[in-house]
Amino acid sequence: MPFKVMMVFGTRPEAIKMAPLARVLRQWPGIELHICSTGQHREMLRQVLDSFELSVDEDLQVMTQGQSLNGLSQQLLINLDATYERLQPDIVLVHGDTTTSFIAALAAFNRQLPIGHVEAGLRTGNLKAPWPEEANRRLTGVIADLHFAPTAKCEANLLREGVPEANIEITGNTVIDALLWMRSHQEDLHWRPSADSPLAVLDDKRRMVLITGHRRENFGDGFQQICEALAELGQRYPDVQFLYPVHLNPQVQNAVYRLLSDKPNIYLVPPQDYQHFVWLMGRSYFILSDSGGVQEEAPAIGKPLLVLRDVTERPAVLEGGTVLLVGTDRERIVHHASQLLDDDKVYARMSRVHSPYGDGHASEHIARHLSTWLEAQAAGGPA
Ligand code: UD1
Ligand code: UDP
Repeated sequence: MPFKVMMVFGTRPEAIKMAPLARVLRQWPGIELHICSTGQHREMLRQVLDSFELSVDEDLQVMTQGQSLNGLSQQLLINLDATYERLQPDIVLVHGDTTTSFIAALAAFNRQLPIGHVEAGLRTGNLKAPWPEEANRRLTGVIADLHFAPTAKCEANLLREGVPEANIEITGNTVIDALLWMRSHQEDLHWRPSADSPLAVLDDKRRMVLITGHRRENFGDGFQQICEALAELGQRYPDVQFLYPVHLNPQVQNAVYRLLSDKPNIYLVPPQDYQHFVWLMGRSYFILSDSGGVQEEAPAIGKPLLVLRDVTERPAVLEGGTVLLVGTDRERIVHHASQLLDDDKVYARMSRVHSPYGDGHASEHIARHLSTWLEAQAAGGPA
C-alpha cells in the first residue's frame, strides 16, 4: 500500500513553493499524493496552479472578501477536519507561516496525524513582525514531527526551541526549484509577455523598478509612507518606470490606488502569474518589496532588493550585500532607491548573484527524506 501524503496550501507563496515538491511527489514510488487547496486565496492561487499546470484533489474554497483571521481560521478548521476524516492521510505536509499552514497543522495535530513542516525554522524573534506569520510558524514548529529547514540557521533556531535534531532536515528552499524551473522553461520558449498584457506598457529602453507590498503590519501608516516614497521617486525620476502588481487584499488595493493611480510613470497592474512575475524580476533594474519569497528570489538572480520591513526572518540574504532592510520610512526608501538609481558603484555592489537557499533540488531532498521517514515509521522505527 502506498503512503498517503496530504499536501495542504492556500495562498500564492505556499503554492509556488509547494508546486515543485508536488511534481516530485506525484512521481515518487510508494507515495500517493493528495493535494488540498484551502482556497485562502482565490484568483492569486489559480494563477499559480495554471503557471505550474498543477491540479488539486480537494478545493475547500474558503476565501471571502476582506476575511478576518479568526473567521478564516474557523472555516479552515472545520473544513480541514472533515477532509482529514474522509481521507485518513499518513502525514500532512504544510508550508511556511500562513493561517492555512498553522490551522492545517493544528487540525492534523488534533487528529494525531503526523505533520511535516516545509520551510521550517524561519524566525525574526519578533511576534509582531511579520504579523501574524511569526506566530504561525513558531506554533507550527511546536506541533510538527518533521521539520524541513531551508538553511543551517533555520535548524539552529529550531534546536534552540527544543526540537530534537533527528526531526530536522536541512534541504534548501523549494522556491529556488520553482524559480529555476520557470526561468529555464522561459528560455526554452523565448518567452515574453504578449501585446495585450498590462506589461506591454513597458518601454525596453527605460529602467524599470518592480514593487510589491502586502504585509498586514504595514497597513495604515506603513503603506502611506511607502506610497508617498514611490510618488516622490516617480517625480524625481520621470525617465524610470515604476511597476507595481498590486496584491488583491482590499486594504492594499484601497491605499495604493488612492495614493498612486494618477502618477504618469507609476504603473499599477493586477497581480501577475508566476511566469510574468519571474520575467518582471529579470527585466527590473531593482526591486522594492516586503515579500518573503521575493527576498529569496532576488539574490538568486542578482537583482538588488530594498526590503520594506524593519526585520527579516531570512538573515542569510543580508550577508551577500545585495539585500537591504529599509523599512517603511519615506525618506529612507527614497534615499536608498535614489542611490541605486544614481550611483553605479552602489548598484554594481548590490547586483551580484548569490543563493543561500540551495541549488534547485530541495524538492527531491524533501521527498527522499519523507519517504525514508514514512518507511521507518511503518516498520515501527524511531519517530
Ligand atoms: C496572506 C498570508 C500572508 C502571505 C500572503 C501572500 C495570512 C494571515 N496571511 O495574506 O502570510 O504573505 O497571503 O500573498 O495567512 N484576496 C482576493 N483574491 C485572492 C487573494 C486575496 O480577493 O486571490 C483578497 C480577499 O479579499 C481576502 C484578502 O485579499 O479576504 C486577504 O487575503 P488573506 O489570505 O487573508 O491575507 P493576505 O493579506 O493575502
Ligand atoms: N509573485 C507573483 N506575482 C506577483 C507578485 C509576486 O507570482 O504579482 C510571487 C513571487 O515571485 C514570490 C511569491 O509570489 O514567489 C511571493 O508571494 P507574496 O509576496 O504574496 O507572499 P510572501 O512571500 O510575502 O508570503
